[in-house]
Amino acid sequence: MIKVLFVCLGNICRSPLAEGIFAAKIKALGLEKIVKTDSAGTSDYHIGELPDERTLACANKNGIIIQHRGRQVHRHDFKEFTYIIAMDHHNKRNLESRKLTSSEPDKEIHLMRNFSRTGLDLPVPDPYYGGEEDFDEVYRILDEAMEGFLSHLLTKHSLIS
Ligand code: 4NP
Repeated sequence: MIKVLFVCLGNICRSPLAEGIFAAKIKALGLEKIVKTDSAGTSDYHIGELPDERTLACANKNGIIIQHRGRQVHRHDFKEFTYIIAMDHHNKRNLESRKLTSSEPDKEIHLMRNFSRTGLDLPVPDPYYGGEEDFDEVYRILDEAMEGFLSHLLTKHSLIS
């Protein structure tokens, strides 16, 4: 089993959308029994909440179903997940400091857009204080970067039939 955790700040905008996009691509490939996914936030701001309604609207118009309640990253995640993918540098730094006190201090934390062909070392911008067009932009960025991550995953784990 390969497990992928997407992480942002609030776990109501970027990371649940990333999780939904990834899950849809995995399902389309028939790999949902082998590859599992979840998302979490570095903050405790929205624990137990549904994703932001703008996230749900954006997902909906792109045919993506999100079933998620906000949760915060916890220590066990560093052991449980094969890949931990941060949406921006701030999330990545936060995760790196947390993992030092986990049982997996050497775990590599990835930056989402480093799997993209076009967005190397760039953040997925936080759309929380933006509007619908900012969510659309996040969707486009995630969808493109996810293709890169997916090819990495398929090659690295020999999942291509
Ligand atoms: P996210 O967006 O990290 O993509 O889920 C945010 C959600 C909530 C807040 C900030 C960013 N907030 O400050 O509550």
